[in-house]
Amino acid sequence: MTATILVIHGPNLNMLGRREPHLYGTTTLADINTALQQRGAEAGVQIICIQSNHEGELVDAIQRHGWDAQGIIINPGALTHYGLSLRDALAMLATPIIEVHLSNVYQREAFRHTSVIAPIARGQITGLGWRGYLLALEWLLAELRNT
Ligand code: DQA
Repeated sequence: MTATILVIHGPNLNMLGRREPHLYGTTTLADINTALQQRGAEAGVQIICIQSNHEGELVDAIQRHGWDAQGIIINPGALTHYGLSLRDALAMLATPIIEVHLSNVYQREAFRHTSVIAPIARGQITGLGWRGYLLALEWLLAELRNT
């Protein structure tokens, strides 16, 4: 059976490339998804990418795809800091969750230092730009090879 990795992008990440490039870089969301899909194809793993500006839609997507996924990479955007229904949707899954942020949230405003997702995530990558997603994918692929 082909393994599936679910990639979830939260609010405003559809604007990458145009959105505060000094913080988030000039790489678009489509570029990030393409890079993930290419690496997934090389490794023989299916990558499902979802973006929404609406917490409920992210919850729906997690309920739809999360149970069959062997790993989840999530950049929850601002929902990181207060998205409790998003956290609850992720918390019911046994699959490893990696939280990714393009910017280093700990170097920014105090409200970004709290993540409601981190306590239920396996790990967190913050501040490494778009490559953080690929690093998260490499970790999940290595874990899959071990199981
Ligand atoms: C972000 C950091 C969040 O604080 C912010 O609300 C985002 C993007 C990041 O990738 O650095 O939307 O998750």
